[in-house]
Amino acid sequence: APATLFARATETVQIVRKNLPPELQNPKVAIVCGSGLGGLADTTEASPRVEMWYEDVAGFPRSTVAGHEGKLVFGVIGPSKTPVVLLVGRAHFYEGHTMELVTYATRVCKLLSVQIMIVTNAAGGLNPDYSVGDIVMLNDHINIAGFAGFHPLRGPNDESFGVRFPPLSDAYDLELRRRGHAAWQKLRAADVGTSSKRRLHEGIYSFVAGPSYETRAECRLLRLVGADLVGMSTVPEIIVARHSGIRVLALSLVTNSAVLEAGPRGDDPAIAGMNVAELEEYLSRGRANHEEVLEAGREAAKDMVGLVRQILVDLDV
Ligand code: 6GU
Repeated sequence: APATLFARATETVQIVRKNLPPELQNPKVAIVCGSGLGGLADTTEASPRVEMWYEDVAGFPRSTVAGHEGKLVFGVIGPSKTPVVLLVGRAHFYEGHTMELVTYATRVCKLLSVQIMIVTNAAGGLNPDYSVGDIVMLNDHINIAGFAGFHPLRGPNDESFGVRFPPLSDAYDLELRRRGHAAWQKLRAADVGTSSKRRLHEGIYSFVAGPSYETRAECRLLRLVGADLVGMSTVPEIIVARHSGIRVLALSLVTNSAVLEAGPRGDDPAIAGMNVAELEEYLSRGRANHEEVLEAGREAAKDMVGLVRQILVDLDV
């Protein structure tokens, strides 16, 4: 394999393009589909469309999590037939991949000529104003894993992609967020899902390595430093996308509410009379689990898909 990341990604792009008709070879928008959000692929026209499994794409990591698929979908979207590439399923750091591998697909997107990346994910809500099923457009992030040294741009910088010290103060494209709000208003006015109480927020995403969910104390710590959401993806991809000048819109689906209350103490009089079953019920309240995350994803997926589609149609790139 070629020595540099740039050379390897270039080679991957050449192989991928061999399997694409001319009208799909330069996708303008990449859409990263998080847990349960693979339905986004169905918003592309049935034809032209080309799908590739990650395992058949040179250099791509294999997905190891149930409920996370792994394929590239090339297609066109909306009346102006904007060429897009969807990444259905992503590589997570907690799977054991290096940060370089987690963000390899983002590099490939850049070299495919992607200008805008829409990243979706499932996240835990830390902001008490959020409800399960709400959608949050990220306007900032806190890279907790980055603080601990796990950063996708660590190591020699490849100037072919971007500068050594990229700014991230405007990582979350304001124009795209404005369009996101406008698209949401439009869908509401057209009476699409008005019966639902689902709200669209802006918020700050904190990135943790996982794979365990946070302890109660960790949730309070993240809230205390200003995070509205917590999750195990997205931030590495966004950093690499911004490094190479891709404009970013990131959407989180709130799949569960992180517990912000401290757990009971062993000497708590409130639990003194409880039997084992009552204690188990008491302790299980608000406990995060993968099934509830996937379930909330299924229910809210349609609205998220509708929103992304509306943004793309209005964008008319
Ligand atoms: Cl509560 N935490 C993390 N780290 N990731 C999540 C989540 C919580 N809910 C969905 N994804």
